[in-house]
Amino acid sequence: MKLSISDSVKNIPYYPKAMMYGHEDGWIRLSSNENPYPPSEKVMESILDALFALNRYPGGEKELKDDLAARYGLAGGNFLIGNGSNELIEMSFRAMKNDLRNGAVITESSFAFYDIAARIYGYETKKVPLSGMRTDLAALAAAIDENTRIVFLNNPMNPTGTIFEEKEFERFIGSLPRDVLVVVDEAYAEFAESRKFPKTTAYIEDFPVLILRTFSKAYGLAGLRVGYGIAGSSLASFLERTKQPFSVNLIALIAARAALSDETYLQKVLSGIGLTKVFYYNALKEMSLEYVPTEANFVLVRVGNKAEEITKKLFDRKVLVRFMGAYGLPDHIRISFGTPYENTRCIEELKRII
Ligand SMILES: Cc1ncc(COP(=O)(O)O)c(C=O)c1O
Repeated sequence: MKLSISDSVKNIPYYPKAMMYGHEDGWIRLSSNENPYPPSEKVMESILDALFALNRYPGGEKELKDDLAARYGLAGGNFLIGNGSNELIEMSFRAMKNDLRNGAVITESSFAFYDIAARIYGYETKKVPLSGMRTDLAALAAAIDENTRIVFLNNPMNPTGTIFEEKEFERFIGSLPRDVLVVVDEAYAEFAESRKFPKTTAYIEDFPVLILRTFSKAYGLAGLRVGYGIAGSSLASFLERTKQPFSVNLIALIAARAALSDETYLQKVLSGIGLTKVFYYNALKEMSLEYVPTEANFVLVRVGNKAEEITKKLFDRKVLVRFMGAYGLPDHIRISFGTPYENTRCIEELKRII
């Protein structure tokens, strides 16, 4: 089936199709670590089927869990489905809330929503600094005390793109008290190329660990809001008790199942991102800009003490990247990987400015 977009829809200001294909509105959006490619056609077709059932409350969560179970060689009861992985981040804070203990441990300079969710639920948060742009697992373990309920890890880490390895994770998790929930947010895991990237699902039966994944990044469904969690079945059902019924809509559920079935699309995205990484490494080296080698679909670049000004100048030229001041990295910008055209524009403008 051929999908096409009507002119009336195309003319809506900021309509994403314009951004993705034709750049009619001229903006290059490299600030939110999105997938620069449109979703798989299988996904788009599945959405048309979903339209006929929109009069019903969403079904399909069990089926998505079963598909995920088949993919991972686990059971449906090991999975949680969320309105983006953000819902699952929030759910884990909500479920672990306790009047007597309210400690959370997170990494400073990591994804901002951990701190926001911790504050919403009244946690006392300890923030552990990065060590050489990497998660400091030893310092996180040392920060855990009798008040701690929950610890958040992010692998690969946003915004550095660095990973911690299997051996480090094994040591870390083995050293923790068993009543602390360890959340490992793996939103960018599909992009990780290192063979040492931990196989965290191997730990779910023996440890209180919740792994978070999302359809927003490698599967290109950020606009639909669907993510999933993986945990031991009793932990999964405990966490699920705090979930609002029907929080994930029907279109998202059906599209996620279709996305999961389209391995060809995923491989195309991953090879595109792999090539883009090489493009940025070469371009940044040529400009003598320091960057952090990345296992994700973005790169953290040290541009010096004018980072904020450079971000504003790029904005004036319709190129959006993220200034990292709010993350405590005021010399850095984070560039998400775009299409070849977007990446070239970004580097050209950066060269002009610098
Ligand atoms: C580390 C990390 N976790 C979670 C998310 C949120 O993902 P979702 O779209 O699944 O809510 C993001 C989004 O940028 C992220 O960077």
